[in-house]
Amino acid sequence: MAAAEPIIKMAKIEKSFPGVKALQQVDFELAAGEIHGLMGENGAGKSTLIKVLTGVYKADSGQIFLDGRPIRIKSPEHAQKIGISTVYQEVNLCPNLSVAENIFIGREPIKNGRIDWKKIKNEAETVLDKFDLKIDVDRKLSFYSVAVQQMVAIARALIISAKVIILDEPTASLDTDETNKLFEVMRQLKSEGIAIIYITHFLNNVYEITDRITILRNGELIDTCLTESLPRIELISKMIGKDLEQIKEMENYSKNIGENNKVLLKAEGLASKGNIEAFDLELKEGEVLGLAGLLGAGRTEMVELLFGLNKADQGRIIIDGKEVKLNSPKDAVDYKIALCPENRKEAGLIGNLSVRENIILALQVTRGWFRKLSQARQLEIAQKYIDLINIKTPDTEQLVKNLSGGNQQKVVLARWLAINPDLLILDEPTKGIDIGTKADIQKLVLELASGEGMSVVFISSEIEEVTRISQRVVVLCDRAKIAELTGSEINQKEIMYRIAGGEA
Ligand SMILES: Nc1ncnc2c1ncn2[C@@H]1O[C@H](COP(=O)(O)OP(=O)(O)OP(=O)(O)O)[C@@H](O)[C@H]1O
Ligand SMILES: [Mg+2]
Repeated sequence: MAAAEPIIKMAKIEKSFPGVKALQQVDFELAAGEIHGLMGENGAGKSTLIKVLTGVYKADSGQIFLDGRPIRIKSPEHAQKIGISTVYQEVNLCPNLSVAENIFIGREPIKNGRIDWKKIKNEAETVLDKFDLKIDVDRKLSFYSVAVQQMVAIARALIISAKVIILDEPTASLDTDETNKLFEVMRQLKSEGIAIIYITHFLNNVYEITDRITILRNGELIDTCLTESLPRIELISKMIGKDLEQIKEMENYSKNIGENNKVLLKAEGLASKGNIEAFDLELKEGEVLGLAGLLGAGRTEMVELLFGLNKADQGRIIIDGKEVKLNSPKDAVDYKIALCPENRKEAGLIGNLSVRENIILALQVTRGWFRKLSQARQLEIAQKYIDLINIKTPDTEQLVKNLSGGNQQKVVLARWLAINPDLLILDEPTKGIDIGTKADIQKLVLELASGEGMSVVFISSEIEEVTRISQRVVVLCDRAKIAELTGSEINQKEIMYRIAGGEA
């Protein structure tokens, strides 16, 4: 495959941003009918390489060839015209338009001088059928989950593109079934001779679907390998440039922290109709409680009640022995509860503010705007968290929109750590985060719990991650708490078994 004339060739691509060399002399080749994985840590330059290829950014130097001929790609529209489409990391659609409109926006078929709605509807249904996605294409996109929205974005790219499809972390918010469906579609496209560039942080996915893998590190090309002849451990060490000691180190952490500590928060019969069925919960100081379950199992709905994002219509919440009412996030924050949400956009990350401003935001709100943090204090706090969780940015004043996706995620985490909460709720904190940093975040969570006595509620779709750091695991299914596991019950098999509906 590698021997054939590549459909795309990028040669000696350079791209710098103020203070950052995002790409240095990067070569990349893509063959027709191959699925090519692009791997690297957060900020390695993956998205930038794609944006150069699709005309979002102009390279400072270097050349791009399409079917052997040099080409200057002027804009994303131009890229689409010549058959290159992208599905970005963040779903980039119009939530207020219907599903069908989103798939066809900008390219509506015309019949007798009018938009052919019937055709739009039919074709939208046909392409979603490929995913086995039976949804009402007339409904507003915002009605559906992030996962479905992601599928719609992919469907849109499928309809537009003939030659090359780029998927920048499309599976980050998909569950296993949905990912499998996507893979089926990808294989089908591959057999039709379409070339696919696939970016993800999930190693299993990369090994399952790709033919070749290109690894970037700090903006440099490290290697391009055939997937089948690249052992995992080698891939990881190429990505992070060191061995996996830090991950092994984690195994040494005690799992018993918090066992005899006092109870911080108690939920009794808490419920919200249509969102989550009545559940009891007890959280001790210095304890990490994992929430496991499939996408849509009710994990997010559960923590929304604990953060006042949604009002319980039944049950009580008791903090430090006193019943409290959490009617809004402000109430929750007053009780020193923080929630770091799953979706960066919902998280209120403000792209046009600096890393510093974004990090101090929640802290400033809790103090009130009349007690403004001094500039010096702001800088100190921002720098502390940049160092602590290793946010890749040239300085504290960089605008957040200029950070890579994973590093934006870390800024959200920093914002909530900065208020020094008693209870920290993390909803998928490591989604889109590279493997080295993932281990760092897990380690940090354990340190905060055992060292500072912080209670942590940890949601992750990766069961392995939940079992690794939790002292207790609540399993959810179909919007209800179905089990609570401790000690040796906390293992992948047991959790899967419970989710599948098994009894003890
Ligand atoms: N518009 C921009 N302005 C300034 N710096 C930028 C801009 N876009 C990207 N960068 C910087 O370039 C580097 C590469 O970023 P890129 O988004 O390509 O990383 P990535 O490999 O896609 O990471 P992730 O896995 O987190 O998505 C980062 O240091 C990032 O902060
Ligand atoms: Mg990226």
